[in-house]
Amino acid sequence: MRMILIGPPGAGKGTQAANLVNTYAIPHISSGDMLRGAVKAGTELGKTADRYMKAGDLVPDEVVIGMIIERIAAPDCSKGFMLDGFPRTQPQAAALDTALKAANVELDAVVLLEVPDELIVDRITGRRSDPETGTIYHLKFKPPPAEIADRLVQRKDDTAAACEARLDKYHRDTAPVIPYYAERGLLRRVDGVGSPDEVLLRISAVLGPQGQAS
Ligand code: AP5
Repeated sequence: MRMILIGPPGAGKGTQAANLVNTYAIPHISSGDMLRGAVKAGTELGKTADRYMKAGDLVPDEVVIGMIIERIAAPDCSKGFMLDGFPRTQPQAAALDTALKAANVELDAVVLLEVPDELIVDRITGRRSDPETGTIYHLKFKPPPAEIADRLVQRKDDTAAACEARLDKYHRDTAPVIPYYAERGLLRRVDGVGSPDEVLLRISAVLGPQGQAS
């Protein structure tokens, strides 16, 4: 199963990916997580990315494309992968196509999680994550256990201002990628409003029991 999870910031891509990768036994490749890892490690790529991410801007294509294309060429992706947060621009989608063609493999599905903008700011500003387990919580929608509350962290770009900027970039740069996959019959639209369990059921329904996208 080679699939993409696409949708606005805070739509629930990371939350759903964490469940789906177990079902389909494929690696979860989050461009945001990889970039945050590079920032934390203080690499040159991370230093470049940090400037853009803090402001809610997209990291330049030339930085992100190489990072993801190299990652999906790794042995653990030979049977499939779940891309989360990539591609986010038309050049990124074209670069992914080129890499998949060169490897003689095809995408199975692109799942679009649809959540209206007015719900996004709440989801983003209430998000907290556990640096020890990577689990994503929400102060209101998925409250963390009291005993780990002290160690939870908030992302630097989870402010209301950066969220507005990220939504603008989504509508300007990422939404235009969606018709590209719709035209190829790969797009599966999923309503991302409801409990995470309800959304997971909807995604599982469009992907099919064996991951044979329907
Ligand atoms: P990235 O990390 O990819 O962020 P994003 O796409 O903005 O998405 P998020 O991680 O914010 O949200 P999500 O959809 O995963 O939601 P989550 O499950 O956490 O990118 C960050 C930055 O990196 C970008 O702005 C850019 O600078 C850079 N970048 C990354 N990829 C790039 C690329 N390809 N090109 C260029 N730049 C790139 O859920 C959010 C919250 O809501 C959580 O608290 C969760 O508990 C809660 N929640 C989830 N589901 C529900 C539900 N159904 N109901 C209620 N609450 C819910």
